[in-house]
Amino acid sequence: MRIIRVKNRWEMSEKAAQVIIEKVKTHPFAVLGLATGGTPKGTYVNLIENHQKEGTSYAGVRTVNLDEYVGLPPDHKNSYHHFMNKHLFRGLDLPEEQIFLPNGMADDLDAECRRYDALIDALGGIDLQLLGIGKNGHIGFNEPDTSFQTKTHVVELTHSTRKANARFFENINEVPTHAITMGIASILASKEILLLASGKNKAEAMRRLWEEDVNEAFPASALKMHEHVIVIADEDALSLVDRDRHSRAR
Ligand code: F6R
Repeated sequence: MRIIRVKNRWEMSEKAAQVIIEKVKTHPFAVLGLATGGTPKGTYVNLIENHQKEGTSYAGVRTVNLDEYVGLPPDHKNSYHHFMNKHLFRGLDLPEEQIFLPNGMADDLDAECRRYDALIDALGGIDLQLLGIGKNGHIGFNEPDTSFQTKTHVVELTHSTRKANARFFENINEVPTHAITMGIASILASKEILLLASGKNKAEAMRRLWEEDVNEAFPASALKMHEHVIVIADEDALSLVDRDRHSRAR
């Protein structure tokens, strides 16, 4: 696990965008695994700006998102599909038919999970997976004690995750109770992983990532089993991690 320590969220977003742009330039048909939430927003702003000013093209890129709420159609203002359209896809030359998210409206959710895994395989796997991290160490919607063997599956969201996401809804009761998420095994199958963390509210999760061995009670610890993980984190997120111990992360 390689750590890039940056000053603040702004620098984190800029550096993360550089990693993604480099990937797209060297692999114009790359499969990018994408995340939603507050963390990657600034990265997406940088990608759009670079596309507009420098012309980096996404015409051949395919994207697969980590997760989607169950019960929200793609055009619902709180669906992850809508989030991605608004914050990234509309600003790039990425053809719509090369954009993939789990379908939270599927009648048979288990079949939808299998379809999504098969789709990722058919695309040749994920070249670069972008991740945020939850306060409890979740990645995607893989909450503590999810088996590391899981591929795409349906999860019941914990109260703490629904509470954290309630800021995007009218109130917590509006937050869906279930989601479809890539599993830890799907995430670990990516060729490279880029984990972003910013802010004091992620400091405890980053401390645990550094200090704990691989264990299912802390989902992000699974990343220690992967050979190519870059973590870009700001000073606030690393405020509980001893500088001298950065090298202990693997
Ligand atoms: C988003 C996702 C989640 C978030 C995590 C952090 O697609 O899968 O794991 O990355 O909840 O969320 P933010 O970035 O809002 O702090």
